Amino acid sequence: MQFKSMVISNVEVSPGYFRMRMTAPQELATSAPGQFVMLKVNDAIDPLLRRPFGLFDVGTFSAEYAGCGTQCYCEVLYKVVGKGTRILSALHHGDLVDLLVPLGKGFDFGPAGEEKVLVGGGVGLAPLYYLAKELIARGDKVRLFAGGRTRDDILCITEFERLGVETYVATDDGTLGESGFVTQVLERHLGGGMRIFACGPTPMLSAVARMAQGHDVPCQVSMEAYMACGVGACLGCVMKGANHTEQTPDYRCVCKDGPVFDSFDLQWS
Ligand SMILES: Cc1cc2nc3c(=O)[nH]c(=O)nc-3n(C[C@H](O)[C@H](O)[C@H](O)COP(=O)(O)OP(=O)(O)OC[C@H]3O[C@@H](n4cnc5c(N)ncnc54)[C@H](O)[C@@H]3O)c2cc1C
Ligand code: FES
Repeated sequence: MQFKSMVISNVEVSPGYFRMRMTAPQELATSAPGQFVMLKVNDAIDPLLRRPFGLFDVGTFSAEYAGCGTQCYCEVLYKVVGKGTRILSALHHGDLVDLLVPLGKGFDFGPAGEEKVLVGGGVGLAPLYYLAKELIARGDKVRLFAGGRTRDDILCITEFERLGVETYVATDDGTLGESGFVTQVLERHLGGGMRIFACGPTPMLSAVARMAQGHDVPCQVSMEAYMACGVGACLGCVMKGANHTEQTPDYRCVCKDGPVFDSFDLQWS
């Protein structure tokens, strides 16, 4: 659904990374972690297309928010990379943005009581916070493996810890946590009875998918792709499914079939 949303706050949480809270339609309160929003950053023709962002958090106020007709809010955590996100980073309390919500398929939590392992690279941590919140509420044990190039890319880690999540951090340059890739840390902790949820750069997801297969651990990945429509109409966001060949094409729409996929359903080469 389309919704005219009001920005509540927009804070730089680390150099180049912002966390924005905005009003949301009441329907979003029942969204699934892993689903995403398409955000029109202004009313101008440029940039024409909406930009996709994962749901970092969803919540409700105890009363309707200052005449906005809703008690629901959502948050996105984003990195400034180009024109759209630069415009977004300049928005303030009271500014209006146009939202399409909720889109795509979210994470499948799996059986309660099983250990849940979240793996996030940089801003890939974004959809994992909402997921962690829901998993902890169910009583699951949750561990987070967070990786980035440098300490500035490790985002909102204390927010996860406040939920009761056990965290492990690795940075390429060793400025926070272990030095090296987060996948190296993850490999030392993999075993039976767990389920992996990962979001981040494709090379990281590919490494996680390979490890999960090697250890026979169920694994879901949240993928990114360039998106125009966000609803399965333009086929601009397709990627190859596990059974894809030149003769028998097997394409998956990231916006409609995903963005969350079982890692075994995708082709990683
Ligand atoms: C389902 C989904 C969820 C996402 N969630 C988040 C999130 O929670 N936080 C966040 O910061 N970003 C997220 N992204 C990526 C985000 O949509 C892009 O960074 C944003 O659209 C860039 O807009 P822009 O106008 O600032 O950059 P543009 O000017 O459009 O591009 C700037 C640079 O970013 C690259 N880029 C733009 N879009 C993408 C993309 N989709 N994948 C890879 N590279 C891209 C371009 O190649 C270019 O180099 C998500 C993408 C998808 C598909
Ligand atoms: S973005 Fe148009 S089909 Fe996915």
